[in-house]
Amino acid sequence: MRCYLHAFLLCTVLTLFSLLYVVSQLASSLEDGDERVVRERGLPDSSRHDAGSLLRKSPGLVGLRGGGGDQELDRERSGPAARGHADERSHLAVVACGPRLEETLTMLKSAVLFSKKPLHFYIFAEDVLHDGFRNALESWPRTVRTRFNFTVHPITFPKENAKEWKKLFKPCASQRLFLPLILKELDSLIYVDTDILFLRPVEDIWALLSQFNSSHLAAMAPEHEEPRIGWYNRFARHPYYGKTGVNSGVMLMNMTRLREKFFKNDMTPVTLQWEEILMPLLQKYKLNITWGDQDLLNIIFHHNPESLFVFPCQWNYRPDHCIYGSNCQPAEQQGVFILHGNRGVYHDDKQPAFRAVYEAIQKFPFGGDMEASLLRPLEASLQSTTHTYCGRASHLFTKRLKESAASVRQDAATVQGG
Ligand SMILES: *[C@@H]1O[C@H](CO)[C@@H](O)[C@H](O)[C@H]1NC(C)=O
Ligand SMILES: *[C@@H]1O[C@H](CO)[C@@H](O)[C@H](O)[C@H]1NC(C)=O
Ligand SMILES: *[C@@H]1O[C@H](CO)[C@@H](O)[C@H](O)[C@H]1NC(C)=O
Ligand SMILES: *[C@@H]1O[C@H](CO)[C@@H](O)[C@H](O)[C@H]1NC(C)=O
Repeated sequence: MRCYLHAFLLCTVLTLFSLLYVVSQLASSLEDGDERVVRERGLPDSSRHDAGSLLRKSPGLVGLRGGGGDQELDRERSGPAARGHADERSHLAVVACGPRLEETLTMLKSAVLFSKKPLHFYIFAEDVLHDGFRNALESWPRTVRTRFNFTVHPITFPKENAKEWKKLFKPCASQRLFLPLILKELDSLIYVDTDILFLRPVEDIWALLSQFNSSHLAAMAPEHEEPRIGWYNRFARHPYYGKTGVNSGVMLMNMTRLREKFFKNDMTPVTLQWEEILMPLLQKYKLNITWGDQDLLNIIFHHNPESLFVFPCQWNYRPDHCIYGSNCQPAEQQGVFILHGNRGVYHDDKQPAFRAVYEAIQKFPFGGDMEASLLRPLEASLQSTTHTYCGRASHLFTKRLKESAASVRQDAATVQGG
């Protein structure tokens, strides 16, 4: 009897233990399941292209040099900010080397003077210029300062052949080609040369990005309107886009698409991605190119014309458009939107009308009245340029500028009134 009792007890205990085991196994597998769900939900969504947050966090360290910033990016992306409303900023990049500090600051000033939406500036510059940019921009009045953020970046090249790039090409001249690879988390960018002046808000040209069809990935203006004085069609020793080539001084890029696209080319029968195409292109054409990166862009879009959105000349208005008489038709009607004083015309006496606009913006005091302190002095100095063709076309320089100024004054009045 006792023996039976012992056996029964033993059985009960064993059953209890095995039951406990099963329950604990079940529980732990359920926990694993929960964890997996949590991990999946928390996973950074790698299809997002908004990287403004990363750039704000680690200025100057993004891109090719980086590597350590990924965790920060994951955290930021999975946070609530990443799911917030659409980015309404215009992202503007410039590459500044040599004696270009003041000119670049004047370009940036023109961008903040007329824009109403927030801006982010990506300033790529030689190390010696970094402090100059930071100090100048930080010294702008608080009311202006709240409308933009900026990051200052060193000139960098892909590690593999950095030396080769620096040797083959003036480092600053080719930096712009690498922006899609350096700012690799950024969706879109407007790139401008340092000698650009915005005469209307940056968001207006930014808005052209949304007019891209599904194959467009960049936008530029023609190099010339008038083939008889065109440069590429008369002198180029390499392929170029369209009838007269394109000018890269003002360029919109959908970098998401640039990074994804496989480009047709005349070096291999296979298509190549952006990061693969640049070096072979330079190797093949280095002896034949004159205008640096602009020539390489012309070669690329020659072979991939469906990828380029061409915007009209008033978005990139140069001395060529008026030097022998006005040949930018759309500017006749709507005025100049973006002025491009190439070949140094802001700093010499060859095209005094261009110089007059540059100096008027440079001298305008922040917070001053645009009518009294910008437009009137500018019109006065333009009066003395009518001995040149561009001077005679200078009403086109102020046509749009007046509207931009009036709109800013109106906003200022509303703010003060209310
Ligand atoms: C600049 O950055 C700060 C901090 O990230 C942010 O709060 C502010 O909205 C940004 N300003 C603009 C104009 O983007
Ligand atoms: C470079 O220019 C020369 C002279 O015009 C031409 O013969 C050569 O084919 C060009 N090279 C390339 C790669 O197009
Ligand atoms: C750039 O292209 C990507 C991929 O087609 C698209 O999702 C994104 O909205 C485009 N960016 C802009 C500013 O239009
Ligand atoms: C987009 O427009 C270009 C002309 O700018 C054209 O060549 C191309 O075929 C268009 N792409 C599509 C998908 O319609």
